[in-house]
This record gives sequence, structure tokens and C-alpha cells, in this order.
Amino acid sequence: MKILITGGAGYIGTHTCVELLNAGHDILVLDNFSNSKPEALERVGEITGKFIEVCEADLQDRATLESIFYQNEIDAVIHFAGLKAVGESVEKPLKYYHNNVAGTVTLCEVMDKYNVRNLVFSSSATVYGENNLVPFTEDLPLSATNPYGRSKLIIEEILRDTAASNSNWSVALLRYFNPVGAHNSGLIGEDPSGVPNNLMPYISQVAVGKLPELQVFGDDYPTRDGTGVRDYIHVVDLALGHVRALEKIVTDRGIEAYNLGTGRGCSVLELVKSFEAACGKTIPFKIADRRAGDIAECYADVTKAERDLGWKATFGIDDMCMSTWKWQTLNPTGYEVTKKEITV
Ligand code: NAD
Ligand code: UD1
Repeated sequence: MKILITGGAGYIGTHTCVELLNAGHDILVLDNFSNSKPEALERVGEITGKFIEVCEADLQDRATLESIFYQNEIDAVIHFAGLKAVGESVEKPLKYYHNNVAGTVTLCEVMDKYNVRNLVFSSSATVYGENNLVPFTEDLPLSATNPYGRSKLIIEEILRDTAASNSNWSVALLRYFNPVGAHNSGLIGEDPSGVPNNLMPYISQVAVGKLPELQVFGDDYPTRDGTGVRDYIHVVDLALGHVRALEKIVTDRGIEAYNLGTGRGCSVLELVKSFEAACGKTIPFKIADRRAGDIAECYADVTKAERDLGWKATFGIDDMCMSTWKWQTLNPTGYEVTKKEITV
């Protein structure tokens, strides 16, 4: 199949490009590089030995989108393109609604016009809001606690309305839990700009000496060690989940949400311990106040994805930490190093 990948130069997009190419699909990446670098796609080419067709454009550049669908026999779209910084979304909600929501509407309009109605969408476990009924099943009531999360929720609803209006639409709403880790080549990984907001890249930058210490946001949650529990999932497992979802939507029509997680929770302190084992260093940390908006526990019920997609996460926390550390040490400044400096 020929797949259009929006946001394919990003963290999850690059890993998914690798797995799609490995599975024998053709891909075309559309990215405006607002949060990524072209170098990332060169590395995808290096890993797979394949040429990556790239179109540098914004999702809302309708003329370019139309020319892509006009000139190519696109079978399906995997839609990663979106802004994802929770804090920034609180400060600039319109930027998030414009980019994420309006961008998705433009994409779907063009898909509809060119009769391409197979779509895999990057949703998030954030749509479960402040629910505390772990493990989260797909049928829980949904809500949002910030504009980023609300943009995902609104898009899910737009896609449900769209699928209800025309039975030719086939949509998978993939609700990611906490994607971490990197490809085992050490060539691609997460390259956050500025100080990371998320736990794993923060720990990794403390380990490499870029940041002095980790602040653990709260040790008084009702969890086994008092720190927040999350369902960390290896990005390669997540990428393989997209390949399975794609194969599913082209055979069974309709719209379905799937949790992509491991089904297992890991606390902040447990992740620190695993990372220390992976990197052979001590991670200095101090206990700080809870972070506003955080919940105690968040992990997936993965029964539906296992049953309907035939997909199951296989990597454990140790693999996630070791691959993150390999990526971090080989690429201390992310994609800024030239690939010639890398020896794997
Ligand atoms: P990322 O920022 O690394 O990748 C997103 C890509 O989309 C980037 O390459 C960026 O340049 C591109 N992009 C953004 N807006 C665009 C636009 N208007 N036009 C064209 N390209 C655009 O993020 P990621 O971690 O790979 O996440 C991918 C998707 O998964 C996002 O939609 C994100 O909200 C969602 N998601 C991510 C996580 C996570 O923890 N990483 C968790 C849940 C959901
Ligand atoms: C965050 C986002 C969420 C997004 C998810 C995956 C917020 C409020 N939520 O959630 O919308 O879907 O990432 O991208 O930003 N922690 C620390 N110290 C740190 C960083 C984090 O102790 O420096 C703790 C947090 O309190 C939490 C856990 O580590 O218990 C994981 O945090 P993080 O990686 O930011 O993910 P989420 O909180 O799940």
C-alpha cells in the first residue's frame, strides 16, 4: 500500500516509517518540520536502505495536499502531525486548535475529495481526563483537562461524525499511553527542543549531565511508592501497532478506538531505578510538589488491541531505558550531529 504519513519526521512518525517500510509498504511523508528535522528522515533511509519521499508543507496547505492526492495513488493516511506541548497549549490554545483541529479538518476534506477514507489517527490517553478507574478501557467517559487534550477529544468526535456520515470511512483512533525509547540502531529517537517536559527524556538528560537533577513531582499519591504511575510503551511497539491498525482498517470499515500501551504501570521511582541500571550511573533527584493536572495512575486495558489488532507490546521497561540511553549517548545534541559522527 502507499501511505501518506503526516508528521512523519517526528518522534513516533520516524519509528513508524521504519516499520511500514520493513513491512513492504510505500510511504510519502508530509511535514512542515515545525518540531523535527529533515535529518531524522535521512536516518530512516539509512536504517531501511530505502528512499523516503518527503513533501515539506503544512497540513493546512490545501493546494499541496491536493497535489499529493492527485499525483499519487494513496491508499491510507497515518496522521501524526500535531502540536503536543501541554503547557504551551494552555498559553496558546488557538494555536493548538488551529494546527491540530483545523489541520485535521483540511486533511479529511482533501481525503474525502480524492476518495481516500482510510485513516489512522494519533490520539492520546489524555482523552481519559481525570479518570481514576485504572486500567482504562476504551469505553470510559472522555474529558479533557487542557487545550492539547481537548484538541484530541474534538478530533476524535469530528472523526466519529465523519465516519457516521459515510460508511466508506475507516478510522482507527489510537490512544497512546506514554511513548518512550528509541530504535535499537541508535539512529532515531526523541529529540525534544529545550528542557523536556516528560519524564523519560528528562531522566536521560540528567544521566548525560545536561540537567543537574530530576524533580519527582509528588511522593504522596495513593500508589505503591507514592509517585505517579504510568504505562510506558516502547516506541517500536507503538510503531508496530500502527502497521497492524492500518492492515485492520483497510479490511474492516468503521471507526474504533484502541489503547496502545503495555497494560502495566511503572512508578517514577521505578523508572529512575531501571534507567540507573541501563546507564550505570546514579540519577540525582529530589521530591518536589505535585505537578498541576497530573493524576496518580494511568495505565491501559489492552484487551481490545490484542483481540482486534492481534497486537501486543513486547518490550519491557529495561529495553525502553537501554534504547533511550543508547540514543542519548550517540546523539547528545539530538539530530544536530551529522550522521557521519555516529558509529553503531
Ligand atoms: P513530534 O512533535 O515529534 O511529531 C509531530 C510532527 O508533526 C513533527 O515532525 C512536526 O514538525 C509535524 N507537524 C506538526 N504540525 C504540523 C503541520 N501543521 N503540518 C505539517 N507537519 C506538522 O510528536 P510525536 O511525539 O511524534 O507525536 C506524534 C503524534 O502523536 C502527535 O499528534 C501527538 O499529539 C500524538 N501523541 C504523542 C504522544 C507522545 O508522548 N509523544 C502521546 C500521545 C499522543
Ligand atoms: C504528559 C502530558 C499528557 C501527555 C503525556 C504523553 C502533562 C500534564 N501531561 O503526561 O497530556 O499525553 O505526557 O506525552 O504534561 N514527572 C516527574 N518529573 C518530571 C516529569 C514528570 O516526576 O520532570 C512525573 C509526572 O508527575 C508523572 C510521570 O512522571 O507522574 C510521567 O510524566 P510525563 O512523562 O510528563 O507524562 P504524563 O504525566 O503521563
